[in-house]
Amino acid sequence: MYRLLILLGFLNSLRADGFFDSDGNFFYEDIDFLTPEDRVSNGQTANLGQFPYHAKLDLKNSEGRYFRCGGSLIASEWIVTAAHCLNNGIVSARAVLGRVNLRNRTQGKTYHSDDLIVHQDFDPDTLENDIALIHLDESVETDENIAIIDLPEDDGDDYVGDVFTVTGFGRLGRNKPLSNTLQYTNLKVRPNRICQRLYNSEDFDDTKLCCKGKDGESTCSGDSGGPLADVNYSNNRNRLIGLVSFGKGSCEGKNPSGFTKVAAYLDWLSEQMEVGNFKEPC
Ligand SMILES: *[C@@H]1O[C@H](CO)[C@@H](O)[C@H](O)[C@H]1NC(C)=O
Ligand SMILES: *[C@@H]1O[C@H](CO)[C@@H](O)[C@H](O)[C@H]1NC(C)=O
Repeated sequence: MYRLLILLGFLNSLRADGFFDSDGNFFYEDIDFLTPEDRVSNGQTANLGQFPYHAKLDLKNSEGRYFRCGGSLIASEWIVTAAHCLNNGIVSARAVLGRVNLRNRTQGKTYHSDDLIVHQDFDPDTLENDIALIHLDESVETDENIAIIDLPEDDGDDYVGDVFTVTGFGRLGRNKPLSNTLQYTNLKVRPNRICQRLYNSEDFDDTKLCCKGKDGESTCSGDSGGPLADVNYSNNRNRLIGLVSFGKGSCEGKNPSGFTKVAAYLDWLSEQMEVGNFKEPC
């Protein structure tokens, strides 16, 4: 069932009402994910520099429509995001780094893609391999508000019981507009069998993580493709654990959500980033 919800969600987003952001770009709402259900009381607004790896992505399709997703800066010219963000005819991407208030254009800097790489085995029905890379046409200048996030170890850790932080400029709730400020919340990793009961069990394998907020808070948080991170895991460094992939319904529930497990894709990431595999700029 979740497959249908996701696909419908995405198609809906193509038709949904959009809005103009502070840069004068028209946006359509993206699918489900986003800030906590009880965002007013529990959603927290990030400070500048608190999540310096978070990229706000503006994704343009061939018809000139824009979608919002999240991403993470993992190398000076590379942003990782979810494949489903780039799969629907997206032709180019813009990444805003170092900005927590979208109305405040003095914050951060905007970068542009020159290549989009969707995992070759991404399956939009099962959301298997929901990972993609955006190559930027210039190197990102890092500073106190813009920083590369480390990749995790591929040590077979299932992270069950660990608490990580998800960030996003997502919708502030069902039928509410997208957020103009970066929001964050903590989620705990649950055993995969919990998500296997809720989603298609065959598809919920060990390339995914099952995460949930505490005490029945909504698990939906952060834009699609955005980071689930181990913040300050060592000496003020951050580590990328997951990518926002899918949820059940539209954020109203207490259901855990599915994340792409980044540690399962380290080989893929390094192959793509080394090989380059550049197409002509879009
Ligand atoms: C914009 O952001 C900068 C840096 O955080 C801050 O100094 C400034 O006060 C902000 N401006 C507005 C209008 O919020
Ligand atoms: C990060 O963790 C270290 C201890 O490992 C601590 O001293 C430091 O204050 C933390 N930084 C932040 C921003 O919380």
